[in-house]
Amino acid sequence: MPTIAAILSRHIEWTKWTDDPEMMALLSDLQANILKGHGRDHTANVFISFDGMKETEISALLTDLSFAVTSALDQLRAAAAFKSAGISGGRVVCVFLSAKGYAKLGAKSVPSDVAFRDGMRVRGRMDPLNFASLPGVPLPGLNDEPDTLWEAGGPWAPGKAVPDAMVLVADDDPGLVADATSSLKTAIADAGAQVLGVDIGLAQRRRQERGGPTKGEGIEHFGYVDGRSQPLFLQEDIDENKKAEEPKAIVAGDPWPLWEESFLPSQFIVADPAARTKFGCGSYFVYRKLEQNVEAFKRRERQLGGWLQEPVADRERAGALAVGRFEDGTPVVLRGQPVSGDPTNNFNYDGDPGGQLCPFRGHIRKTNPRTAGDEFERRRIMARRGITFGERQARPDGADFNEDDRPSGGVGLIFMAYMNDINEQFEFTQAAWAGNVDFPPGSSAGIDPVIGQRANTPGTPNTAWIDGHPAIGGGTALTADYDFKTAVRLIGGDYFFAPSISFLQQPLP
Ligand code: HEM
Repeated sequence: MPTIAAILSRHIEWTKWTDDPEMMALLSDLQANILKGHGRDHTANVFISFDGMKETEISALLTDLSFAVTSALDQLRAAAAFKSAGISGGRVVCVFLSAKGYAKLGAKSVPSDVAFRDGMRVRGRMDPLNFASLPGVPLPGLNDEPDTLWEAGGPWAPGKAVPDAMVLVADDDPGLVADATSSLKTAIADAGAQVLGVDIGLAQRRRQERGGPTKGEGIEHFGYVDGRSQPLFLQEDIDENKKAEEPKAIVAGDPWPLWEESFLPSQFIVADPAARTKFGCGSYFVYRKLEQNVEAFKRRERQLGGWLQEPVADRERAGALAVGRFEDGTPVVLRGQPVSGDPTNNFNYDGDPGGQLCPFRGHIRKTNPRTAGDEFERRRIMARRGITFGERQARPDGADFNEDDRPSGGVGLIFMAYMNDINEQFEFTQAAWAGNVDFPPGSSAGIDPVIGQRANTPGTPNTAWIDGHPAIGGGTALTADYDFKTAVRLIGGDYFFAPSISFLQQPLP
């Protein structure tokens, strides 16, 4: 009989279920959204406090919720039906517990991750942070905004209880999400628990010029395609992506692949210590509500373009240097090569060792340096499942946001990600890379202009920008000193665990 560790150390071929009963058992007891994003455009994240409840009452509530939860297998089947027959996948429901929630339940077996047990509020103020993979090297902490300054009025309002649980409801029909949320709130109140508040997720989409998903491509509020780079664990996804990208690589004569997208499920899924089945697994889940000041970001893009003296027709390059991809997803390191205008994920920075084409501080280079064969770096990759929040006006043709609608708040990204170790994956990426002025070492990179959370003090190297692409400036690099301050602010969040469904069915033995 294979162990969980053995099952998680190979790619998942779920359509061959008759050959693989253990994998099927695992997928039936694992929650949806971990192996593959649910892809629905409307979500409600309902935050719950168990304050004042008895352990048996909490247990009864979780059992009730377990009947609504979508399993990984349900989700994969629904996705296959949608692909072959266009049948809507319907609603997805996921349940998460914080360490405080486990403690109030009186659970004997609690997921062991140290950062999870501390919670995000504690970890966010720790400085320095230590990482087991870099023994004896204390690094700058996360430098999170203190919770006294988080969003007023909702689940994160200063003074509110820390959430014990979260329920995610997702559907393409906003009415169905609203209905499900209101019945959920009634069930929670009937069980004696308290709803702390609800964060609403609303995907933003741009109609695509050339093919692509029928819904349009997903973008974040600064206007950039998001979710393009994802780790893949399902053999079907790996094969499909290879088929789409490989012909281009052959034409270019490039080695294949330049970035290996396939990852083992064990980097994102762990055995649930409290599962009631043999193959019950779960995943650690980071939730961060990040407000985006669109007006400030767009102003800085324009100003940086001016300082660099980019040709007016090519002003988009300045924002692309900050993000690392153009708004359409084309990696800035590739612009001017045959793949121009292609949001490919098959690239790395081997041809740009000095950061002349894509700055070392560019958001996607900071958060994934893509050094070929570097397993230490690959260990940081998370399964990102974020969704935007807040309303925006679209242009009448649906091809972009309305130019005049550039809010300075009230919109942003609910960053959500699954992983097997919060310290080594999320915290490492945010603190040791994005927020670390000295990463990569010796590069004078400064902090990530999108998500860095440490001030660029005057005179720090983050003021020097280079656009050295041969397609621009007649081969002469453009340079400018400009402090591109971040326009993203943490306004809420916590660390959670997505337990096995069998645990939720019977939380207390
Ligand atoms: C409001 C906040 C954020 C914005 C606007 C944003 C925007 C983007 C965009 C436009 C991309 C390119 C699309 C893609 O490659 O998938 C991207 C990629 C990425 N982001 Fe963010 N992001 C934000 C927060 C975060 C946070 C908090 C983290 C982690 C600490 C993060 C980690 C990543 C990673 C790992 C990638 C993929 C890099 C790669 O594989 O090349 N992002 N982000």
